[in-house]
Amino acid sequence: MTTTTPIPSRDITVRRPGIDHEQPLPKHFVADDPMRSHIAAMLSSVFPEGEDFFVRSVRAYRDRIDDPELSKQVKGFIGQEAIHGREHRDFNDQLAELGYPTLGVDRLVKRFLAFLHKTTPKSHQLAVTAALEHYTATLAEALLRDDAARAEFATDEVRALFTWHALEETEHKSVAFDVYEEVSGNHVERVATMFAVHFAFLAIMTGAVTVSVAQDRSAWRRLPKSLLGLRTHPFFQRDVITRLLDYNRKGFHPDDHDTVELLEEWRARYEAGIAA
Ligand SMILES: [Fe+2]
Ligand SMILES: [Fe+2]
Repeated sequence: MTTTTPIPSRDITVRRPGIDHEQPLPKHFVADDPMRSHIAAMLSSVFPEGEDFFVRSVRAYRDRIDDPELSKQVKGFIGQEAIHGREHRDFNDQLAELGYPTLGVDRLVKRFLAFLHKTTPKSHQLAVTAALEHYTATLAEALLRDDAARAEFATDEVRALFTWHALEETEHKSVAFDVYEEVSGNHVERVATMFAVHFAFLAIMTGAVTVSVAQDRSAWRRLPKSLLGLRTHPFFQRDVITRLLDYNRKGFHPDDHDTVELLEEWRARYEAGIAA
């Protein structure tokens, strides 16, 4: 299926956040809370290889994109994801020094995605990317809208890293989806892939967080309270789950979740140097 409506103009700016990854960081760098810190650390560990896979799967269709606006957005998407991967790699090295198993998780994700790359059709890889981009956009929006959640980061550097990443995920949230619609647009495959992605993403994250916490003796005593505290975690709220599931709706488009004003606000804040 080919998209008949032209792609609306979107600003996808490649920024270099210049984050200092040498600044000292406490082990539990989110709200001094073990679970929140391990979840953020494991999310960061899956980003670099995940984003590399996203770039490859979209780039594989670059020649098939006729719409000049979409071509321009693909370029912005690739530029943004490349820098996200680089920044999170540096952050993951810092987390590894604190004892987080970021490097082991990175290697496992790399192997898993290489397997997916070798054994599945290109259209499926693009559908996986579109589904995961909906995940990242949904989590990014939750973070950008939640002042209290951003205030939980222990240092300005970590807050800036996650906020900058969330801003750019929101900017390019529809690119992989629009490419998928342009070159395939198969609704059944899109929904079935999202079903598999829910399962794989949750399994990988649960496994990674469990291993990470198990290796952190300083977390054990505080674990029951920390687990109970997840009820107020910004990513585990009902509206986040509702937005994730909306992806299955026929006719869904990422722009249905209006983030125009949110983006305007955050671009202005970033320009003013208060992105954190
Ligand atoms: Fe990203
Ligand atoms: Fe992304």
